[in-house]
Amino acid sequence: MANKVVILGSLNVDTILRIKRVPQPGETLQMNDRSSAAGGKGANQAVAAARAGAETSFIGQVGNDDAGKFMIESLKDDQVDTSGINVDSGSGTGSAYIFLDENGQNSILVYGGANQKVTATEVHNGAEQIKHADFVVTQFETPQLAAIEAFKLAKEAGAMTILNPAPASEMLPELLELSDIVVPNETESASLTGIEVTDEASMMANAAAFEKMGVKNLIITVGSKGAFYSTEDGRHDFVPAFKVKAIDTTAAGDTFIGALSSQLKTDLSNIKEALTFAQRASSITVQRLGAMPSIPTKAEIEAASK
Ligand code: RIB
Repeated sequence: MANKVVILGSLNVDTILRIKRVPQPGETLQMNDRSSAAGGKGANQAVAAARAGAETSFIGQVGNDDAGKFMIESLKDDQVDTSGINVDSGSGTGSAYIFLDENGQNSILVYGGANQKVTATEVHNGAEQIKHADFVVTQFETPQLAAIEAFKLAKEAGAMTILNPAPASEMLPELLELSDIVVPNETESASLTGIEVTDEASMMANAAAFEKMGVKNLIITVGSKGAFYSTEDGRHDFVPAFKVKAIDTTAAGDTFIGALSSQLKTDLSNIKEALTFAQRASSITVQRLGAMPSIPTKAEIEAASK
């Protein structure tokens, strides 16, 4: 049976600026190309979960504008339940400006807009979906107070909570205590624990530090190298990534989270297999341009695994 996944998060329209390099202060450069696509960490994770086979619902907020309509339609195209998305007349839909250089490296500027105004009220619009969820997932492009509300509802319903603390930011301790699984990248993990991620021993030290903060299960993603996991029942390992030529890493982390939540069993018994599936999914995303358009389907992930 497919996992039921609820994502609380951001919806952004991305403008992708393909450049040779980021200009210096006072310098003007020509761009190689400019395009736009659906994005936002929350929306990307929802589409990744849905394309990988999960029954997916979204909680979030857009402005009363064309960008908002476009984002809702983009999620509907992938059969994501959008009934938990509020349309706010007082703010614009979120947007992001992605500078993508010729080496596939990106730098991103985000305008939060309506995403920043998500409150407990919007979360309660999605309470019914949370009641039936296996996993409730969130990140840091919507307010942490809303995340706390969603995770409290998840706990009441017996769902597992997954926190992706991205982009890196100060964290409310209560949110960590409500998180069953935390999935930072190596930089986010180090900024929360103060322990630099260099090798497996330092990853174990990060896991111990998170445990002291109330988090029993940790997954650290380490870019093109792979992902480390440590579980409450004492299992830990490093799952290497697949070697591919990346042309745009935008949404690779989001694909990983969405694909993982689509496959993981709530008792985490298949964590290694689910991580391998998630790594395969993000290895496809990095070989394509843009955020949401680059996210693979389950069939593509399975075909690449053969
Ligand atoms: O993680 C990638 C996403 O971050 C982009 O789609 C952009 O919208 C920013 O939120």
